[in-house]
Amino acid sequence: MFAKASLLFLTTFHQIMRMKLVNSSISLAVLLAGGLVLSALRPAISRTMANAVMGADSVKHDPNTGLVADEHLTLVVAQCTACHSSKLILQNRFTRDGWKEKIRWMQRTQKLWDLGETEPVILDYLVKHYGPEQKTFDGRRKPLPAIQWYKL
Ligand code: HEC
Repeated sequence: MFAKASLLFLTTFHQIMRMKLVNSSISLAVLLAGGLVLSALRPAISRTMANAVMGADSVKHDPNTGLVADEHLTLVVAQCTACHSSKLILQNRFTRDGWKEKIRWMQRTQKLWDLGETEPVILDYLVKHYGPEQKTFDGRRKPLPAIQWYKL
């Protein structure tokens, strides 16, 4: 009786172990395959993420500075990237007053020159492209930019 029971237990245990083994090698294979697919897709994924970060596809960016390339790009590059990287602009979002305050601060403390009649043009450019993000509606995430649909 006891021998029979322990035999039953052992076979069940053995079966469970086998199943576990099979399961874990399947998960390992799935994991490996997933990793391979992901690494193969990496360039495409980072391109999509770059698009999302850089904004809609229709906006052109200057490849040297990353700044939005419109008719005032040359002026802004000349006046605003002489002392530091354009990244200081790219990573900020200010209102018109906020940008003006930054310019005044640089003039007070960082020897930024008087921008003269280029100042309003530069402010227009900064607010247009690097103003506070406009919310279309509250309470939800922003709609995804540049979605690339694919056929299932
Ligand atoms: C005369 C040199 C000079 C010029 C030209 C200049 N800046 Fe600056 N700016 C600086 C310095 C110096 C800093 C401080 C950098 C740091 O913190 O590492 C700075 C910082 C900044 C910052 C970050 C401010 C903060 O709160 O941290 C922004 C934004 C900025 N500049 C935008 C501009 C814009 C826009 C223009 C064009 C109108 C411009 N800069 C032109 C010298 C300059």
